[in-house]
This record gives sequence, C-alpha cells and structure tokens, in this order.
Amino acid sequence: MSNRENFTSTFGIIAAAAGSAVGLGNIWRFPYVAGQNGGGAFLIIYILIVLILGVPLLMSEMMIGRRAQANVIGSFKKLGPKSSIIIGIIGLLAAFLILAFYSTVGGWTIHYIYASINGEVFHTDYQNYFFNFKDNSFLPLLWQIVFLVLTAVIILGGVKKGIEKCSKIMIPTLVLMLIILVIRAVTLPGAGSGVNFFMKPDFSKVTGTTFLAAMGQAFFSLSIGMGAMLTYGSYIQKNENLNFISTSTAITDIMVAILGGLVIFPTLFSFNAAPDQGPGLIFVTLPAIFEQMPWGAGFSTIFFVLLLIASISSSISLLEVIVAVLKEELRWSRTLSTILTTISVIILGVFATLSWNTFQNIFLTTASGNKMYIFDIFDYLSSNILLPLGGLLIMIYVGWYLKKDIFYEELSSGVHKKFTLALRPIIFFIVKYISPIVILLIFLNGIGVF
Ligand code: PHE
Repeated sequence: MSNRENFTSTFGIIAAAAGSAVGLGNIWRFPYVAGQNGGGAFLIIYILIVLILGVPLLMSEMMIGRRAQANVIGSFKKLGPKSSIIIGIIGLLAAFLILAFYSTVGGWTIHYIYASINGEVFHTDYQNYFFNFKDNSFLPLLWQIVFLVLTAVIILGGVKKGIEKCSKIMIPTLVLMLIILVIRAVTLPGAGSGVNFFMKPDFSKVTGTTFLAAMGQAFFSLSIGMGAMLTYGSYIQKNENLNFISTSTAITDIMVAILGGLVIFPTLFSFNAAPDQGPGLIFVTLPAIFEQMPWGAGFSTIFFVLLLIASISSSISLLEVIVAVLKEELRWSRTLSTILTTISVIILGVFATLSWNTFQNIFLTTASGNKMYIFDIFDYLSSNILLPLGGLLIMIYVGWYLKKDIFYEELSSGVHKKFTLALRPIIFFIVKYISPIVILLIFLNGIGVF
C-alpha cells in the first residue's frame, strides 16, 4: 500500500477529478442532447439529477477506492463480497466502450485543429465539410490513433507526473477560453432566441426518455457509474475532504456545461441552424462563427486545442481505469499495461470511427425512425445502460453492504465544519434509499417498461 502513487494536493485532486468530468461530455455531447430533448426543461432536470444523484454517487465511488486503495476490480475483491466484482466488470466494459467512441470524437477534434490552422475549414459548406471528413475511411482513423497515443503518453507518466500535473494546467485554461467564447456568442445578432431556448423551460417536450437522457448525460458528464472516480479516489489521501472534492467537481462540471450551451445555442440560432442535429453539432456550427470573427482562424484553433485538452483530461481517466486493473491485478508494469490497453482500444475504436463508412450497413432503427450506427450504439449502451446500472449497483453496495459506519467515517476525514458533518445522514439516506429507486424508475421508464 505504501508504494501506491497518490495525488499530492487538494487542488491537484480537484483538477484531476474535474478534468475527468469536464470533457467532450460538456461541450460536445451536452448541447446536442439538450437540443434533442427540449433545451431549458432538459437543463433543469439535468441539474437536479447531478445534485441529487450525481454528487452522492461521486462520493460513494471515491470512498470505495480510497478505502480499498485499489483499482475497480481489486477494490471489490478487497472489500468483498465476491459477487460485487461484477460492478468492476461493468466498469471495465464501460471504459472500453466509451474510450472507443470518445477517441473518435477526440480524433475529429485534432483534425479540426489542423483544418483551422491551414484554413481549409473556412469558406466551405460547413455541414458537407464535416460529413465528408467523418465519412472518409482513412483520416478519422489516423486522428483517432493520434488521440489515443497522446492519452497513453500521459498515462505512462503515472498518477503524479502524468495525470495530476497535466490536469492542473488544462482546466483553468479551458474555463477562461470558454468565457471569452460565451461573450462572443451572446453578443451575436439574434443570440437572444438561442439563450431563450436553452434557459426557458418548455416542459411540453418532457417525456420518460428525457429523464433517461438527462440521467445518462449526468452520469457520463460526471464520469460516474463505471469506476473512473473510484480509481481516482484510490489515489486520494486519507486526510482529504471528500465532500468538498465531489461538490467542487460537480459544480465545475455543471458550470462548464452551461457555458458550453451558452456558446452553442446563441450561435445556432443566430445562424438559423437546427439545435437538434446530433453529434456533428459543434463541428458544423462553431467554424461558422469563427469565420465571422476577427482572427477567426486563431480563435478556432484555440477552441479546438482546448476541446482536445478537455477531452484528453477525460480520456486519461478512462484509460487509467483499465491500466490500474492490469497493473495491480496482473502485476504487469505500467508501460506494458498501457501499451496493451491502447492497442485493444484502437481495435475496438475502428468500429466506432468507421460507423458511417465500412460499417454503415450495421445500424438499429429507433422508435422515432433515427438510425443508430455502431458509434451511437456504443454511446447509448455505455451512457444509458452501463453507467446507470453501475451507478445503481454502487449505491446499493455502499448503502446496504458497506453501511453507515464506513460511510460516516469516509465523509468525516478532513472535515472541520459541523454543518458538513450534519449532512451525512441525509446523504446516506439518499444513497441507501432514494437513489436506487430513482435510478431504477428513470431507467425502466426510459427503456419503455412502463
Ligand atoms: N466525463 C467525461 C466527459 O464529460 C467522459 C467520461 C465518462 C470520462 C466516463 C470518464 C468516465 O467528457
């Protein structure tokens, strides 16, 4: 236990955890999922789910990892019972699936940096440009591999010199850049209707699937339900305050999602683009704004560089879940674990990236008639099924198996405020009773059982 690496400071922990949380989920996924699910009403449901389900789950995951001082499989092995290892297996599966399609989008981001620098992204039909690129068979694969190799390089650096150090620089920079972009976006002509769409709730669009989408988005965006926060939690020292760390992480994540929405929707409405066009949203609309700005190519480059940084600070937490398992359970070196994991993810990732090319004949058709390609299936399966399922099991595990004493103890270390201590029974009640029921209801309702 003593030779396990640790995060070295509270700021470092929050940067790493917020780095994991803040990513493509906030800036790429959140705006289009909100756009497809009614805008403002979705935002409210989303924030409630983050606060009521997300924060307690974040705490629960971190405390399991910190308690066991082990990876997502080892933790359940150590703390028992044997059957709980299934939670770790769900986590590993989710890590692979998410990495596979996450790195597709990470690759698109790198291409857009390149295309912003050489200017080819401007003065085109933005929609066609994006679709031609995405449907091509070679370039997106190349960039996906570059993205995964960059991720692997940081993971090779280890917990302190890789994960912590890199996150500490990236997160503050990202927030600053986003604020600049928000100011630009809300001052565009016609921006008001976009702000309205995003901020003004229209509950007539809310259905069972809205709640499932919001829960899936919340879990995905907070990196919970699959062991990323458990793994990071295992690098948190005993004297750190988990209440503070998890709340700061969630608040940063909500803030960045709101800022992301305030860039995207005003811009969309200003350019009369549809808010519900799906995964291509930011790759089609943002270059269009940048073209209208002075120094647009520069802004565009900076934006996509920052998006890349945000996504890498998340993908490292996904890769680390798997690497930590191989390293500790099979006693492989960090280097070997990282290389083999990266190669397997590249192989799986090819299927996601070539969804619209080689594998375009493989798709499911949803009730509303949309096609779900392999890429969308990976996303749906992980966000809307594996993460809620993992989250549900983790809450049940902490509430019913670990029990109150351990829960209270973990939420007391590093705490000096009486008020924070007084919250423990409430949080525990949520973990033990409320969350499992709510997750189950949303889940069953969303997949159409009721
Ligand atoms: N939270 C990350 C994002 O919003 C994605 C992620 C999910 C990372 C699950 C780790 C685990 O981009």
